[in-house]
Amino acid sequence: MGFLYRKLVRRILFSLNPELVHDSLIRTARSAQHVELFNSVLRFLTRSADLPVRAAGLKFRNPVGLAAGFDKNCEAARFLAGLGFGFLELGTVTLRPQPGNPKPRLFRLREDGAIINRMGFNNAGAWAAAKSLENLLPLPVPVGISVGKNADCSLEDAPKNYLETLKVMYEFGDYFAVNISSPNTLQLRSLHRGEKLRRLVEPMLDFAAGCKKTKPFFVKIAPDVEEADLEGAAALAVEKGFGLIATNTTVDRSAVSQRWKAYEGGLSGRPLRELSSAVLARTAGLVKGRVPIIGSGGVLDGPSALEKLRLGADLVQVYSGLVYEGPFIVKEILDHLRRAGWRPGSRG
Ligand SMILES: Cc1cc2nc3c(=O)[nH]c(=O)nc-3n(C[C@H](O)[C@H](O)[C@H](O)COP(=O)(O)O)c2cc1C
Repeated sequence: MGFLYRKLVRRILFSLNPELVHDSLIRTARSAQHVELFNSVLRFLTRSADLPVRAAGLKFRNPVGLAAGFDKNCEAARFLAGLGFGFLELGTVTLRPQPGNPKPRLFRLREDGAIINRMGFNNAGAWAAAKSLENLLPLPVPVGISVGKNADCSLEDAPKNYLETLKVMYEFGDYFAVNISSPNTLQLRSLHRGEKLRRLVEPMLDFAAGCKKTKPFFVKIAPDVEEADLEGAAALAVEKGFGLIATNTTVDRSAVSQRWKAYEGGLSGRPLRELSSAVLARTAGLVKGRVPIIGSGGVLDGPSALEKLRLGADLVQVYSGLVYEGPFIVKEILDHLRRAGWRPGSRG
C-alpha cells in the first residue's frame, strides 16, 4: 500500500501547493473522522500488532507518534489516530489565535526528502483547540499538546503566556510539550538558556502539581542547541522530572542541495536525521535513563526509527515521513521493528 502512495498519490499531491494540500487534508479528515465506516476501513488498512511501551507514566500501544505541527488546531485527531500512531502530539497551540508568517512558508525539497517550513505558529488559539478536543475525546491513544508563545509576547512575558495556554489546555492532554525550539518565532530558542528555561517551566510544573491529576511534561529542544544549554536542559529535566524531545527542525543547511540553502525556516526530513540523532545520543548520555526521551527528526522508515530507539529514545515521532512515505508509514516502521527483534527497553 505504501508503494501505491509513493508511485501514484504522492505524484499528484506533490504537483500541488504544499500548504493547500495540507489544509485540504485536515479539512477532509475533520469531517471523515466522524463517519464510523471510514474509521473502520482506515484502521483495517493500517493495522499492525501492538508493540506496547510505557514512558512518562503513560501506556502506548506502540512507540511511533505523530510529531507536533501537523494538526495545529487539534481538529483531526481521531483520523490521525486511525493511521496507527501510538500517540499524537497536537499543536503547537498559542494562547491567542495568530496568522503565522506570510505565505509561501512551506516548501518540499523533493530531491532531499525534506521540508523547509517557516509557518510561525499559525493557529486558531487555545480556546478553539480546547473546544475541538472537547468534541473528539476520548481518543484511543495518548494525546500530547504542544504549547508555545504568541509572536507578539515578549520573552519577559513568555512564562505567563505559556502558563495561560497550559491552563486552557490542561484537561485535554495526557502530556504537554513545551516548545522552545521553533526557529520561526523570534528569539524563542533563547529560552534554552539556564535560568530562562527554569523560569519558564517551573510555573507550569507547579500548576500541574496542584491539579487533581499531575500530568507529564516534555521540553522540545533544537538540534542546533549549544552544548552548555543542552547540559543545562538535561540537568533541569532530571531535577524536575520532565522528559525531553530531541529534536525540532534545524536552521543548518549543510546537508541540502544548493538551491535551498538560502531558504529561511526549519529544515526537517532526511537531511536532519544525522544531526538530530547526534543530539539525541548526547541527551541520552546526559540523562542516563532518568527521564524519558522522544526522538524526532528524520524518522522516515523502520531503520531510522530503530536508530533513534537504539540511541536511547523511549518513543519516536514522525512528520516529514508521513508526507514522503504516506499513511502506511507507522505500519511499515512497526513491521521493521518487529523483524529486527526490537523490544521496549532493548536498546542494545
Ligand atoms: C510544516 C511543519 C510544521 C511544524 N510545526 C511544528 C510545531 O508547531 N511545533 C513543533 O514542536 N514542531 C513543529 N514541527 C517540527 C516537527 O514536529 C518535527 O519535530 C520535525 O519536523 C522533525 O521531524 P521530521 O524530520 O520527522 O519531520 C513542524 C514541522 C513541519 C515540517
